[in-house]
Amino acid sequence: MNESSPQPVRSQIRDGVAVITIDNPPVNALSDEVRQALGRELEATVRDSNVRAVVLHGNGRTFCAGADIREFGKVREQPWTAVLAAQVEASAKPVVAAIHGATLGGGLELALGAHYRVAARSATMGLPEVRLGLIPGGGGTQRLPRLVGAAVGAEMVATGDSVSASRALEIGLVDEVVDDGAELAAAIDKAGELAASGEALRRTRNAEGLKDKALALVQLEDVRAVVGRRSRGLLAPTVALDAVAKAIEGSFDEGLEFELDAFQRCLESPQRAGLIHAFFAERRASRSLVPGAARPRPVARVAVIGGGTMGAGIAAALLEADLQVVMLERDGSSLDAGLGRVRKIHSRLVDSGRLAAEAAAEVLARLRGTVAYEDLGDVDLVIEAAFEDMDVKKDIFRTLERVCKEGAVLATNTSYLDIDRIAEATRRPQDVIGLHFFSPANVMKLLEIVVPAKVADDVVATGFELARRLKKVAVRSGVCDGFIGNRILFTYREAASHMMEDGASPYEIDQALEAFGYAMGPFRTNDLTGGDIAWATRRRKDATRDPRARYVRIADQLYERGWLGQKTGRGYYRYPEGARAGQPDPEVLALVDAERKARGIGPRPFTPQEIVDRYMAALINEAAKVLEDGIAVRPSDIDVVLVNGYGFPRWRGGPMKYADDIGLPRIVETLGRLSEEDPHFWSPSQLLVRLAGQGRTLATLNSDHQATHA
Ligand code: COA
Repeated sequence: MNESSPQPVRSQIRDGVAVITIDNPPVNALSDEVRQALGRELEATVRDSNVRAVVLHGNGRTFCAGADIREFGKVREQPWTAVLAAQVEASAKPVVAAIHGATLGGGLELALGAHYRVAARSATMGLPEVRLGLIPGGGGTQRLPRLVGAAVGAEMVATGDSVSASRALEIGLVDEVVDDGAELAAAIDKAGELAASGEALRRTRNAEGLKDKALALVQLEDVRAVVGRRSRGLLAPTVALDAVAKAIEGSFDEGLEFELDAFQRCLESPQRAGLIHAFFAERRASRSLVPGAARPRPVARVAVIGGGTMGAGIAAALLEADLQVVMLERDGSSLDAGLGRVRKIHSRLVDSGRLAAEAAAEVLARLRGTVAYEDLGDVDLVIEAAFEDMDVKKDIFRTLERVCKEGAVLATNTSYLDIDRIAEATRRPQDVIGLHFFSPANVMKLLEIVVPAKVADDVVATGFELARRLKKVAVRSGVCDGFIGNRILFTYREAASHMMEDGASPYEIDQALEAFGYAMGPFRTNDLTGGDIAWATRRRKDATRDPRARYVRIADQLYERGWLGQKTGRGYYRYPEGARAGQPDPEVLALVDAERKARGIGPRPFTPQEIVDRYMAALINEAAKVLEDGIAVRPSDIDVVLVNGYGFPRWRGGPMKYADDIGLPRIVETLGRLSEEDPHFWSPSQLLVRLAGQGRTLATLNSDHQATHA
């Protein structure tokens, strides 16, 4: 056996126990090299007569976070994880897994092969493959349900959710939980003990969690119903459940065969490519892009200005991240209402069982309210979420400059205002930044970090560090009307209105986009967010609208009738008695028809494909302009924004990935054709034209240090 480091896998014999350590930073992913080395070390333990038992262990922050995601889509060398897990399980010498950190995917599957599992208290365990469009391929779909039963096993496999060590103990996934840092010693002791006892080894393939077949099948169907609703359009969760069905109904070896085959099917699916693209896009986006070695400024106390829906959501998110929060409102009653909104968010969490009542009390104890700016003297960060008006914001920032300590970060949550102008209104433009949250701010994962011209690097770094603490996906954006997301949204919504006026009904448009993978089409979304918000955006843009721009009046007509969407019981759809799912409304269709007549437009039919093509062409074209203008750093950042903030189907990776998949020449050709109809709206992005001409993809602009004007 190899005793020297730095091998990706090494062994050391302690009291007759071979400790096999995976050492492949940062997360001990099972690369080709690691799997091969593991196979060799396991084999060596069989031959070595000095070895009585084996412990599997990982160096660093985790036991093992699973397959090396970079290798999917490439040819992977044997032995695969399934072979290693079987090798572990078949060992005649006892094998104990010492689990710590995020033990995921293939990492957990290896541990499932072991004869005994010891976990550190802070460890988490899960099979997250479905999130990447895959199913476990190392025996996980067969061993986990046999060990923990069909209800929990099927749920873990199909949702990808992890469990804590204490929960793992409860469900029988691990045999013992010990204090952090004590897992290796405990595993070595146990391995020695098992060897000495000579007891028959427990092999998970023989575990009896699925013994009551009828019950297991009922439990499986329950999970299937819930998962079916949650993961509409996704292939992997259904396939994963089919594999669990095999575990219930067939022999272990038949199940393994099914799993391998199903894993291969998922591996080859475009959904796998899209979801893995999204995974790496998020990690790339959060790489801070801060020049030099700027360190984030320390943040412990945060002020939130404004207690409306947005301010309250932001406060709730900050509180959950262990920060001290002070909310400022203009008077006592507004403050009470604002604090009430934060409490309500937490009481809902308690009611739904997602937060313990004591934990909610502890969280809320960190929340204070004030109506006096002077009380903000000690905060490290201010997030302004007040009324969207430039003069109001300038006043607030001038006051903040007066009362806040030197070095406090002054952030605005504006969703479109020119942050350079807000910054210029103060004598501390280096401290002013945009932190654009999405509603509800304690739920939505996206945070646009909007970087004005004069902001200091360490303030940008502070924004990214805050996002990390809030468990949000951060994307850097330049300053422009709407930043990355809302600017693109505005354009593709326009394309939808044009199609509606030209002959497609709002319902046809929604259906086409829902079939494409959106949970809700644009008109349904409009009804949810409220027609008054879109109306206000249009009024704001009146002053600067290009005279050549086409203007569809239908939305204004709905607004004038008070049809604002769900909150008024009708919008594009009708919502009788508060129903959440809308019903098509003949009066809306009549209104649309009348407007077409008034405009002299003879309606023409649109196929679902044509609807999707136009919508996507508008989206992709504006996104490319956002890149050209240097507002987004790289195409995959736009994917992250649209997937996490605007409902773009994650399994497609994002609109830039989709554009590459269907081919830039095709998009440029579509834009060329459409610009004959409306040259102003459809003027093609020069970046797209250039890339298409060079036979390049948008993905070639994703490398870390590229200039956007390639
Ligand atoms: N394969 C390859 N690289 C991986 C990886 C994997 N399974 N898991 C994480 N990484 C990389 C990340 O890309 C990142 O690389 P970077 O620093 O170059 O960006 C680095 O490891 C650290 O990961 P990060 O996510 O930044 O750290 P974290 O502490 O926030 O989270 C994990 C760690 C393991 C919880 C998280 O990375 C994760 O969930 N990984 C996916 C695990 C998975 O799905 N495994 C099953 C594969 S089928």
